[in-house]
Amino acid sequence: MGYPFAARILGEVTKFDILTGWLAFLVFIPLAATSNDWALRKLGTVWKPLQRWTYAAAVLTLLHWASLHNWGSWVPAAIHFGPLAALSLYRVWYQYFRKRPARAVAA
Ligand code: HEM
Repeated sequence: MGYPFAARILGEVTKFDILTGWLAFLVFIPLAATSNDWALRKLGTVWKPLQRWTYAAAVLTLLHWASLHNWGSWVPAAIHFGPLAALSLYRVWYQYFRKRPARAVAA
């Protein structure tokens, strides 16, 4: 019989590809647990900043996927995350950099 299950998990947790998977998983737990109306009401203004951790989890997942098999997985990871990154960049541009019509000044 091989060494115990928990020891095997702990033994590989220091590998970058596995560590990023675990960290993403840990970030997703509070996000999943608070994705309901009750938590939304209870957490009030804290809810939104908490949910923003999803961006950190997304980056960790990208690193997890890309670094698998000695970084041999970066092409499929890039293909899947490319559209997501493009949409996020568009959102940032739309919110902060787009030209808006000048506001009318009160007389
Ligand atoms: C809980 C800790 C995690 C561990 C130990 C882990 C481990 C692994 C391993 C060993 C593989 C490679 C499988 C193979 O090609 O033979 C893999 C693939 C992958 N994992 Fe994780 N993972 C974890 C969490 C996550 C999380 C939270 C996500 C995202 C929600 C994720 C997304 C992926 C993706 C997208 C792949 C590539 C799938 C493919 O090649 O088609 N993993 N993971």
